[in-house]
Amino acid sequence: MNELRRLLPYLKRHRAMFLLGFVFVTISNIFTIIVPAIIGHTIDLINSDAYSQAQYGEVIVEVLKILLYSAIAGVFMFLTRRTIIVASRKIEYELRRDMLAKLDILPQRFFQQTSTGELMALGTNDVPAAREFIGPAIMYTANTLTRCLFALMQMLLLSPLLTLWAMLPLPLVSYVTYKIGKIVHVVFRRVQDQYAVLTSRTQENLSGARVVRSFVREDFEAKSFAALSKDYLQRNIKLVKVQALTMPLMMTLIGMSQVIVLYVGGKMVIADEATIGTLAQFFMYISILIWPVISIGWVTNIIQRGAASMGRLGKVFDATPDIKDSDKTDHSIDNLQGRIEFKNVHFRYDKQLPDVLSDISFRLEPGETLGVVGETGSGKSTLVKLLPRVFDCSKGSILIDDVNLRHIPINTLRSGIAVVPQESFLFSATIADNVRFGNPDASEEDVREACRIAQLDEDVSGFPDGYDTLVGERGITLSGGQKQRTSIARAIVRRPAIIIFDDALSAVDTNTEEKILRGLESVMKSRTSIIISHRISTVQKADKIIVIHDNHIAEFGTHDELLQAGRYYADMYQRQLLEQEIAEM
Ligand SMILES: Nc1ncnc2c1ncn2[C@@H]1O[C@H](COP(=O)(O)OP(=O)(O)OP(=O)(O)O)[C@@H](O)[C@H]1O
Ligand SMILES: [Mg+2]
Repeated sequence: MNELRRLLPYLKRHRAMFLLGFVFVTISNIFTIIVPAIIGHTIDLINSDAYSQAQYGEVIVEVLKILLYSAIAGVFMFLTRRTIIVASRKIEYELRRDMLAKLDILPQRFFQQTSTGELMALGTNDVPAAREFIGPAIMYTANTLTRCLFALMQMLLLSPLLTLWAMLPLPLVSYVTYKIGKIVHVVFRRVQDQYAVLTSRTQENLSGARVVRSFVREDFEAKSFAALSKDYLQRNIKLVKVQALTMPLMMTLIGMSQVIVLYVGGKMVIADEATIGTLAQFFMYISILIWPVISIGWVTNIIQRGAASMGRLGKVFDATPDIKDSDKTDHSIDNLQGRIEFKNVHFRYDKQLPDVLSDISFRLEPGETLGVVGETGSGKSTLVKLLPRVFDCSKGSILIDDVNLRHIPINTLRSGIAVVPQESFLFSATIADNVRFGNPDASEEDVREACRIAQLDEDVSGFPDGYDTLVGERGITLSGGQKQRTSIARAIVRRPAIIIFDDALSAVDTNTEEKILRGLESVMKSRTSIIISHRISTVQKADKIIVIHDNHIAEFGTHDELLQAGRYYADMYQRQLLEQEIAEM
């Protein structure tokens, strides 16, 4: 239940609405409870020996009162919903908004441990479950409490003995409610778990649809999905069975109450200890109490579900971004010049894992270009992830403009660096919007210029809607090379002090590569650039080149120096020359 405390700030923010809701529900229930009293009184009036024409008018007045009071009760019940349920919808919106805002600042590490499906289920399942606690659960609790209180008061005034008898089955109702609630909770949890598995699987299958098809795994995937789906169905059927049992069981218990009242009350009427009106009034109270008493069980479930959901949401809300501004941050730094220095930098992905990078040191002046080559898996991408602080280095220090990265405000740092990642990610928007993602203030001309440099403009002019062409989910309608170049244009339009290309030309032919590099010259002249590549041709013009091998810098120098050295780099160059010659034969 502690988990529900997380909702307090949200409830507090909307406390006026909730207070108003309580006032409304109280008024509604006062009028609901008065009606049976009037009916009882009217029955006794009609039943009395003294009933005469003169009282006919009185009966009419009573009937009109009943109509009026019922209407008032209805109006206030409507107002209760309008306040409490509306507030719960607002809180649902705030919860979802806060969750996404939090997800946006959580570290990469978090997403390595949590699947997308699990996170989707939080938004689609757990946030609504929390809302049900805030809305219906709170509203029905308030309703049950006030209604039971007023009804009991009335019943006790009429006949304490009969009240006692009528209430006899109540503890049993509570007990059964509690038991069923517990079972429902366990079963529901199993449903939720399977739902998360199912969402994960669906999401992976959809985004990996091409892979599934090309490996002819449709049958396999369909079968295993069907199995998971069936499991989900069975868990749901079990839930339905338990839930289906609730209502009849409650009705039986309530029925017991009515039977007792009929028996005891009937005897009282016969013995002239109570009037028929009183007995009728009692029956009405019992039927008025049916729903609130049943709703106790229902509300218990919602509260338990809400608590479980808030527990799961807590995983997001409690996670802290491990990389953030601290008291050492120098907020006066608002832009970067682009001088980069690595001093004996070590990095490992986890304490238990070995170093991926060890003892890396180099220095780049603003405007210089660094080429990085090395075998696959040698740590090149990891190296550049340290600059925008996707990860912090484990040992050593990284300086930009001679200031430790950790002292630069994260926002300044990240706005000053543009990365063209190894795997481009495009949004399902237009080409222009995808490029402008790099810099929302970019003008149309800026976007076109960036695309010209990235050699994308010719491709775009061939598209049906030019720059307004939608690229489909993750850019599915574009070729690998077109996606990469969109990604490059996105980085260019950002006008960063530092620009990083992580194997960003791997999907274009050498010819296009040359054109892009030539176009980039003007861009790179004024910025510090890091180019990672498997191709010597991409890095050979760089001012400095490092070769990463066995986690450390194995070679360092210019293209010519490295050829002279005749080691790994020179080998690689020879091999690629040969490949090119063969290709050109
Ligand atoms: N998030 C991660 N958690 C744990 N280990 C990782 C993670 N990312 C990468 N690694 C490991 O770190 C090493 C370096 O990976 P990295 O991506 O930096 O290589 P790379 O040089 O960029 O390779 P490639 O040329 O194939 O892109 C690899 O052994 C990889 O398995
Ligand atoms: Mg890489």
